[in-house]
Amino acid sequence: MSQAIVDTASALDPSHLSFVHAKSEGSQWWRSAVIYQIYPKSFRDLNGDGFGDLAGITAELHSLSSLGVDAVWLSPFYPSPQRDGGYDVSDYCNVDPLFGNLADFDALIDRANHLGLRVIVDLVPNHCSDEHPLFQAALQAPAGSPERDLFIFRDGRGPAGDEPPNNWQSHFGGPAWSRITESDGRPGQWYLHLFDSSQPDFNWDSESVRTEFERVLRFWLDRGVSGFRVDVAHALVKASGLPDWGGRADGGSSEGFPGHEAPMFGQPEIHNIFRRWRDVLAEYDGERILCAEASIDPLPRLANWVREDQMHQAFNFAYLHCPYDAGALRHVIDSSLRAFDEVGAPTTWVLSNHDVVRHASRLGLPFGAPRSGDGVGPRDEQPDSDLGRRRARASSLFMLGLPGGAYLYQGEELGLPDHTALADEHRQDPTFHRTAGERVGRDGCRVPLPWRSGKSAAGFSCSGGSWLPQPEEWHELARDRQEEDPGSHLQMYKAGLALRRDLGLGAGSLSWVDGDQFPNCLAFVNGNVLVIMNLGQEPVVLPDGVLLLNSGTGTAGGRELGPDQTAWLELA
Ligand code: GLC
Repeated sequence: MSQAIVDTASALDPSHLSFVHAKSEGSQWWRSAVIYQIYPKSFRDLNGDGFGDLAGITAELHSLSSLGVDAVWLSPFYPSPQRDGGYDVSDYCNVDPLFGNLADFDALIDRANHLGLRVIVDLVPNHCSDEHPLFQAALQAPAGSPERDLFIFRDGRGPAGDEPPNNWQSHFGGPAWSRITESDGRPGQWYLHLFDSSQPDFNWDSESVRTEFERVLRFWLDRGVSGFRVDVAHALVKASGLPDWGGRADGGSSEGFPGHEAPMFGQPEIHNIFRRWRDVLAEYDGERILCAEASIDPLPRLANWVREDQMHQAFNFAYLHCPYDAGALRHVIDSSLRAFDEVGAPTTWVLSNHDVVRHASRLGLPFGAPRSGDGVGPRDEQPDSDLGRRRARASSLFMLGLPGGAYLYQGEELGLPDHTALADEHRQDPTFHRTAGERVGRDGCRVPLPWRSGKSAAGFSCSGGSWLPQPEEWHELARDRQEEDPGSHLQMYKAGLALRRDLGLGAGSLSWVDGDQFPNCLAFVNGNVLVIMNLGQEPVVLPDGVLLLNSGTGTAGGRELGPDQTAWLELA
């Protein structure tokens, strides 16, 4: 079928620009930074046990510096029984032997400093592991004791106390309460866990909990971290009385409860905790930051979290979850910039992380396609991998042109898809086990990275071990191959990140290009650069200017912008 090129005027008409966002006035690094998420277990294994380690990260930091990112965020590497990929911490001020030790951590920081990369770490304050000594002490202590008061213990309902204290459901499936056996052997109180039963929630009404976490912040700040990504930051404080709630513990559904706020999320007192943390960070030099992982809607409400006395950034999950649709994307970008501008905070952008289906797979599926919970499994509809990859390239280049901060997830620079054919026997995510396989969980996006094509475990580990098997096709996507290929996904990221830095796009401005010059496209001007993504079925002709990059070719490309491509063009 021949494709008609939609002809356009040759110059961009300035009267078609609608202004949304001005160039950033603040010059702090985090306003425009690109931060790369490392999932340590799957990044690089240097000791050959099949699990990534800190030494493996240190050995490859130069690859990230040459990629062109400003900072890395490390998902948890703390001592942990690994029931939830390390988000079940049993000691907040140490390194799990699986990943190395504190000396390895210090070496990582030294290397990062040498390369000019900042390091931020994960803070997991909502819950710990049930193996944490404080929880173990609480189990031994009687009801009503100070030890129990660090967690959320309650008597059960019903005459025998054998029903959970309220109806809250765990984010991973099943009830959010588990009953303990008291030290005298009798069935006893229940404790709250919004996630797995091995992850008891802390009681943030307790001053001891608050003081303890300030100690944890200082421990890592003293070791040279540039800040913290704060896990489940929206859940720390629960509504008093722990009232029943119609929705799942992730606030996923409030149907039937119109106008009600989830009692486990976004409680007003939370802001005072963030203010105290901000004060702790202010004791240190070097612009240390806090970034909230918070499921808070709508965007103006989330913006309250990044007022200048609280967090510096919050993940923009509205952007991550937005369908591949010009109108929807424009709406979410508009609302984000307006909401965050209102409080003087940068907007962040993100397309993938360790909890969601990678965007190279997600964009190859119809939006909202039925999935087994949080992942795509072998029994689900499989993504169209070419379409997903093409759209991933276009979406990534589009995102990197936006003003604000951006978060990348390890492997997206290689265009990695999820492992959607992973067999059940390999699955580790508690979601899979707590729902008897109904939701396959997040293992598919956590598969160890391919470094060297043709090597065992694609070069992830010197021994060939890999805690999750990698898809065979990943050899073709290995970093060494992509380093050599000028049209590769990796080279497009490198070129985009270098240009983004040189042209100051992260601290730049945004005006939409209106009118019908580019049908079915989403286009904006940032400074003097036109960023345009073609979401339609027909190619369009780009206006006058110097072509900088085209996601279709990874290089400047021709004057035609094909379907599912993004171009950057310096205006004449
Ligand atoms: C966050 C983490 C996720 C973890 C959960 C519980 O959402 O990103 O991986 O399972 O918190 O800590």
